[in-house]
Amino acid sequence: MNYQLSDRVRALNPYIGAELRDKVETLRRSGRKLIALNVGEPDFPTPVHIAHAGIEAIIKGVTKYTPVQGTHDVRQAVCDKLKRDNSLSYGPEEVIITTGAKQAVANALLSICNEDDEVLLPIPCWGSYPEMIAHTGARPVFVETDPEQDFGLNVERLGSKVTSKTRAILLTNPNNPTGAVLDRETLFAIGMIAVRHDLYIIADEIYEHLVYGEKVPSIAALSEEIKARTITINGLSKAYAMTGWRIGYACGPLPVIRAMTVIQSYTTSNPSSIGQYAAITALKDEGDSVKEMTKSFDERRQYLIREIQSIRGLSCPNARGAFYLMVDVSRYFGSVYEEGTIADSKDFAEYLLDQVGVVVTPGDMFQAPRFIRLSYATSLAQLQEAVALIRAALSLLKMREENLK
Ligand SMILES: Cc1ncc(COP(=O)(O)O)c(C=O)c1O
Repeated sequence: MNYQLSDRVRALNPYIGAELRDKVETLRRSGRKLIALNVGEPDFPTPVHIAHAGIEAIIKGVTKYTPVQGTHDVRQAVCDKLKRDNSLSYGPEEVIITTGAKQAVANALLSICNEDDEVLLPIPCWGSYPEMIAHTGARPVFVETDPEQDFGLNVERLGSKVTSKTRAILLTNPNNPTGAVLDRETLFAIGMIAVRHDLYIIADEIYEHLVYGEKVPSIAALSEEIKARTITINGLSKAYAMTGWRIGYACGPLPVIRAMTVIQSYTTSNPSSIGQYAAITALKDEGDSVKEMTKSFDERRQYLIREIQSIRGLSCPNARGAFYLMVDVSRYFGSVYEEGTIADSKDFAEYLLDQVGVVVTPGDMFQAPRFIRLSYATSLAQLQEAVALIRAALSLLKMREENLK
């Protein structure tokens, strides 16, 4: 048989993040010792009281279909959380529970984008977004941010990209991969652009609790006009170390949430009933388990920034949120070693993997080809070992003359 695949699926690029994860698994199974700085998930276990709620759900028989949009109780728990943490008022009908925040972003895009629409996307960005946008038939329009400004968003630059085809602005705050955190003034200015040009805002706030400094508001909380056009996305993966439970959610204007529910009804139906039940317990947490995790991440972040900046030829902007650090490795491009030459960030990542077993994500995945991304969602001891290995591996490289300065 000729396995002809659809044009739609053939247009998708392979997901570098998933490929890398698979490669690490395979290498580990073959006995290779690796330090994985590519992981996008907390190294902490799901807090025990939340895990118990999951067990209770199974024992009590909460194991059947639920409403597609999620149970009323978990949607109410999301509303209570939004009020408590984000000063946002929504009713349960304006909330949808999804299979991870990823599905919420995909459903939101599918609900609002038409063929040839444009979605403004600040870069570097999470690797899933460009393909998710393209999959709807719309086009991502990249808005560059500068490492010299710690990847903060230049609002004028964003505004200059608006055309008659622009449908939405897709924001991640705090940002994966850059760790940038947009402040209230910048968020308000972005909101005003959306209001002026009648655009949607998709605000992915999955890292909201992981901010090392002043907490930032939800963009939807900044004015009623902004709220009326904003779909806020969040989930339990990062804040409660629940990546495998696959529970995310979105809140926003009723017609959009209804459309997202229709899409969900034809694809995955409800997210796991057990995950939803445990989410009610998780969402009641006013931040105690999150606080401990954030404290550890902050220690590791400070350590990693300090060390990376002390390694010859590497530099990194300050990262104030999430658990990632972008490292400019471009001064190593053109460097030679016994087996080859490092031409780009993919080669650089491969060199570290082959030579010293440190796994990092090449910046191409984030539209940042001069960079690699390091995740510090791993123990300080592992980070210390990784830094020593990176330092040793790079000392073996001969840098090009012009990059030595
Ligand atoms: C910006 C961003 N949004 C969404 C997600 C997906 O989260 P979930 O596990 O809830 O699908 C990730 C995961 O890496 C992310 O970095």
